Amino acid sequence: MKTLLARNLSQDRYLHILSTMATSVELAKIHGLDEERAEIAALAHDVFRELKAWQLLKLAKFYDYKPLDVEQNSPVLLHGPMAAYYLKKKWQVLDSEVLQAIEFHTTGCPGLKPLGQVLFIADAVEPRRDYELREYFWQQAKMNLDLACLLILQDQKYYFAQEGRELHPLSQLWLQELQENQSA
Ligand SMILES: [Fe+2]
Ligand SMILES: [Fe+2]
Repeated sequence: MKTLLARNLSQDRYLHILSTMATSVELAKIHGLDEERAEIAALAHDVFRELKAWQLLKLAKFYDYKPLDVEQNSPVLLHGPMAAYYLKKKWQVLDSEVLQAIEFHTTGCPGLKPLGQVLFIADAVEPRRDYELREYFWQQAKMNLDLACLLILQDQKYYFAQEGRELHPLSQLWLQELQENQSA
């Protein structure tokens, strides 16, 4: 799989994947989760990140996946779901938590399991990312996965709002769920 990725992705993306893997494994270890499953999810998460919009839409058709309206308008959002379908069909990965982590790594979703939270966080805070709050999110993630996801989503919402964009509907629902759990 690593060779496949190295061959088909830019150097920069490939390094992002390796870095996301290392961060995922570290986070899984801290929270007592299975490190190998975290590693597999991170390894595969961006396998289709550099496909063109038309290629992603074609893949969706091939896998009989009906894109959501937001995905139709912004096909790059399909790279997570399509990677999960690909892993299931082509590599016979049947671990539902690994598949969920990959499918929803960009947006999250209500009820996202800890393995998915780890990937969502690692994707955002791996050391090659460069933004002010990165280190703060990482420190929070070491203590509390729910809280770190909530903070990252709130930050995303803030940036999207500045650009006049709305959060993905799944992220919005997940944000509400995390907020309710925090205040419960
Ligand atoms: Fe991604
Ligand atoms: Fe990524």
